Amino acid sequence: MNHIARRRFDCLVIGAGGAGLRAALQLAAAEAHVAVVSKVFPTRSHTVAAQGGINAALGNVQPDNWHWHMYDTVKGGDYLADQDAVEYMCRAAAKLVIELEHYGVPFTRLPNGRIYQRPFGGQSQNFGGAQAARTCAAADRTGHAMLHALYQQNLKARTHFFDEFFVIDLLTDAEGYCLGALVLEIETGEPLVIEARTTLIATGGAGQLYRTTTNALINTGDGMAMALRAGLPLQDMEFMQFHPTGIAGLGVLISEGARGEGGYLVNSRGERFMERYAPHAKDLASRDVVSRAIYTEIKEGRGCGPKQDHMLLKLDHLGADTITKRLPGIRELARRFAHVDPIEQPIPVLPTAHYTMGGIPTNRFGQVAVPVHTGPEEPVPGLYAVGECACVSIHGANRLGGNSLLDIIVFGRAAGNHMFEYLSENRFYRPMPETAIERAMTRLARWDKKGEGESVDCLRDALRKTMEDYCGVFRTREVLEEGVRQVEALVRRLADARLKDHSKIFNTARIEALELENLMDVALATVHSAVAREESRGAHSRLDYPKRDDVKWLRHSLYFREGRKLDYKPVRMKPMSVESFPPVERVY
Ligand code: FUM
Repeated sequence: MNHIARRRFDCLVIGAGGAGLRAALQLAAAEAHVAVVSKVFPTRSHTVAAQGGINAALGNVQPDNWHWHMYDTVKGGDYLADQDAVEYMCRAAAKLVIELEHYGVPFTRLPNGRIYQRPFGGQSQNFGGAQAARTCAAADRTGHAMLHALYQQNLKARTHFFDEFFVIDLLTDAEGYCLGALVLEIETGEPLVIEARTTLIATGGAGQLYRTTTNALINTGDGMAMALRAGLPLQDMEFMQFHPTGIAGLGVLISEGARGEGGYLVNSRGERFMERYAPHAKDLASRDVVSRAIYTEIKEGRGCGPKQDHMLLKLDHLGADTITKRLPGIRELARRFAHVDPIEQPIPVLPTAHYTMGGIPTNRFGQVAVPVHTGPEEPVPGLYAVGECACVSIHGANRLGGNSLLDIIVFGRAAGNHMFEYLSENRFYRPMPETAIERAMTRLARWDKKGEGESVDCLRDALRKTMEDYCGVFRTREVLEEGVRQVEALVRRLADARLKDHSKIFNTARIEALELENLMDVALATVHSAVAREESRGAHSRLDYPKRDDVKWLRHSLYFREGRKLDYKPVRMKPMSVESFPPVERVY
């Protein structure tokens, strides 16, 4: 093997979105030597696209408290969330949002100077009562504001950034310790070994599994696939969130904040149809409920437009002032991509793939934790995961809007703290086995064979169409099994894919091929887990099993790459300090 350069750090953070940056900041501020590796320039990470806001029971607009927030989150997740982690998150929220304000996030203000909060889906006062207003917003560009503030704080704390480096694989030893990663500098194509005493995966979700998605091109499930290749399972992958309001035909996100500000959906008859599906919460029911309602309206012939294939989101009644102050980005997106000005005309919308509820299983300290021989969970030494690539699980079967920005801040910080403790208990670098590096290098070598063969681009398009057609909002065994067959066939075809010899953008092409391998593994995890779960819960809606089944299915799925095996583990129902919220029928 040719000589490969090496660098050593105390901690390696893979991914420079909000989760990775919040963890890195905690570590760098404690004077750990931290490297952040990102395949894009950090402020282009997908957190930048989060629009509506971050949840915290500040009570600035309506009375609120963390316990109501906890109830809404558990109910929103259709009782699959682990309640200790949910309590931890909701209790920490207020303090950490104020901390963000001190980092420089320019939150929108109320006339009294406090942080503005808007109503979002699934929020209530007093355990299911009146609508709450819990989402702290920087207009409709909250993620953008947060990501920039966190990046600047990291620069100040002297975090070391490897910008535009792609992670090939984790490096582990025979005892299962994670010792860092093999990475590739995208510009030069040179590999680099980064050794670290502790590693955090914070690579975001896998929205690129679907053709119509709010997700950036970079969201290819890289960290999830790395975990699978390291022999670790992915948890609850059957739960993919479809956001109800993507721009029809394109999937571009129109924030739930638009409905939070008073916008509402209408069908071709001009009816506010959500009144029928969720008489209490209406347009601010949880996302799974609204997405199903939209497709039901279309199926029953009440779709809008010449093809009757979308709904309309009305905002014109809010007035130009509210739209330009509170939803400036939404107006810009609607004008540019839907060619309508929401001050005057409704926006055509349709559900769009948005968020991966499942991911790498962790405990509430961010430690990757897996059951050993179906016994109790044990942490994988040195390895952490946070944010959309992880499953802690606070979102259960359906995430509430505004909880993802909170998740990354709360658990990014928690992981940073725990990693720092781990450093003091593991003071020396463990020897790096050459075989680990060789194994990771074979991933790269596979794409050195060039010439005629299937095109990576075509296979990626085919995968995204297959997932859309066979693993969407409504599912049946028959359709999902066909999805499994088709994804398995695409995986086999990928083995015959080749990069073209004459490619002028060799490294980018190679990265796209490696990303497609990642997507294929995550697609398999998703379809296999979805076939197996014979109930309807949250975002997993089975027409052949229309009811939730708590007796058989109040448990998390664990998918293993080897043998496409599935296992299950119980939900952590016991919170830290309060009574559990037991599963009851979920109505909005
Ligand atoms: O609708 C939105 O603004 C998205 C927010 C979220 O997914 O949390």
